[in-house]
Amino acid sequence: MAFMKGLLITLMLFVLAFTVSAQTPNGNPAARAMKNPVAAAPASATAGAAAYKKYCAFCHGMDAKGNGPLAPKDSNPPNLTDATWIYGSSDGEIFSVITKGAGPNSTMVGFKGKMPDQDIWHIINYLRSLGLKSAAR
Ligand code: HEC
Repeated sequence: MAFMKGLLITLMLFVLAFTVSAQTPNGNPAARAMKNPVAAAPASATAGAAAYKKYCAFCHGMDAKGNGPLAPKDSNPPNLTDATWIYGSSDGEIFSVITKGAGPNSTMVGFKGKMPDQDIWHIINYLRSLGLKSAAR
């Protein structure tokens, strides 16, 4: 009986973990439809670089290649400059991840309200200026 109860609780936690996880792997069609309202001009990439260094670099690395110096143990923040994407590589999908957060237990907290949306779009323009590649679909 105790075993069954344990199993049930494990199962419920599993379901819960999935329902509260901020983003679904394999992309997000609704977010993909979102357009970046900020033109990818050099000034935007420069503003994005500053915001990136402040809010993202300690986890994703100064060069955005992943595993920054202060990333939580075993969290392995991914490389944001390659063609491998868990949640989709369009501007809208990346915006959605940054605003809502990602990862099991929301290792990466969402940044909605922590900086103006415009800065989030600047960060995306900055990442693209680093040569961020779209995922092969
Ligand atoms: C506390 C550490 C931490 C911070 C700070 C953080 N991230 Fe993350 N980020 C992660 C982790 C861990 C993941 C992987 C989540 C997963 O595996 O599901 C991730 C995932 C992502 C993804 C999804 C990548 C993919 O493959 O789809 C993007 C995009 C991203 N982060 C961008 C940012 C940006 C931009 C910032 C700054 C505004 C930022 N992150 C701040 C830890 C962090």
